Amino acid sequence: MRVGFVGWRGMVGSVLMQRMREENDFAAIAEPVFFTTSNVGGKAPDIGRDTPALKDAKDIAELKTMDVIVTCQGGDYTNAVYPQLRAAGWSGYWVDAASALRMEDNAIIILDPVNKAVIEQGLARGVKDYVGGNCTVSLMLMALGGLFQNDLVEWTTSMTYQAASGAGAQNMRELLSGMGAINAQVSGLLADPASAILDIDRRVSDFLRSDAFPSQNFGVPLAGSLIPWIDKDLGNGQSKEEWKGGAETNKILGRSANPVPVDGLCVRVGAMRCHSQALTIKLKRDVPLDEIESMLAAANPWAKVVPNTREASMAELTPAAVTGTLSTPVGRLRKMAMGGEYLSAFTVGDQLLWGAAEPLRRMLRILIE
Ligand code: HSE
Repeated sequence: MRVGFVGWRGMVGSVLMQRMREENDFAAIAEPVFFTTSNVGGKAPDIGRDTPALKDAKDIAELKTMDVIVTCQGGDYTNAVYPQLRAAGWSGYWVDAASALRMEDNAIIILDPVNKAVIEQGLARGVKDYVGGNCTVSLMLMALGGLFQNDLVEWTTSMTYQAASGAGAQNMRELLSGMGAINAQVSGLLADPASAILDIDRRVSDFLRSDAFPSQNFGVPLAGSLIPWIDKDLGNGQSKEEWKGGAETNKILGRSANPVPVDGLCVRVGAMRCHSQALTIKLKRDVPLDEIESMLAAANPWAKVVPNTREASMAELTPAAVTGTLSTPVGRLRKMAMGGEYLSAFTVGDQLLWGAAEPLRRMLRILIE
């Protein structure tokens, strides 16, 4: 198999390369070929073996020689190149991290620990386009897949606490710049134990509201604040990120014709790369909590049930604990005051791993094995 990689240098692409090296994926690929939009003829990344010089990511004739193309280059690239490639008669597999093709009828959203059967049915009927899901949706399904697999969910809300990484590398930098700039405003007062906290707070508040605060990318401060809107305004009171929760969950599960209502509010918080979500789940019946925990833990090797205690939740169910790992812990599990069919849950997951790169490398494995 000739496998072309596009957009391997960006944030998601770099995480993909790192994971592929860790899992020795390149050894399984007959011919890896790296493409570029800016450095044709340059050196390909080090994957432990010889690879040709970088090829032009807009060169349709060159792309057409690939059996599989894996792209993390973004939606604009997909919209520009994919239609030309298919129009030129290319029938290879397109594996994409961007959302551009996600909801197309001829595309499958890939999250194999949750929807291996949907992927296999797609392969069997000749589907060629495999697209990574929205990070929030993928992380929710990795953690709560057990309930969906057992068809126990009547509806669910997902209230999110989304990390800066979901908005991009520049936004992660801006979050840290904001934190540092806030500290710089008050470092003298902070160092003085006798200073008044309300003086410190007033300075911080004034700075947050001033033009001097670094907010070019987010538009408003994230450090020291939060942003209760993610992605486009659909004009019906819902953000595009919130819409994806329902649309993509059901598409991943292969039940768009018989959808489970999934809705909620999506909020950006000052975490680096872990999205967290608080869920209220209406179960189809009053299943005992220990059975629910067993189902969740058994669903896949990464969905770890965290005991619903203060200690365990604080130690294991935070972005600080989970960041950089493939674990998708789920905790705060309890029946709510509304009744035995109402379950609360809280989950955390790395937005760049299961939320972006990991489903792509695993799809590539499925294709080459
Ligand atoms: N839309 C997501 C976010 C990331 O802004 O956090 C991509 O799935």
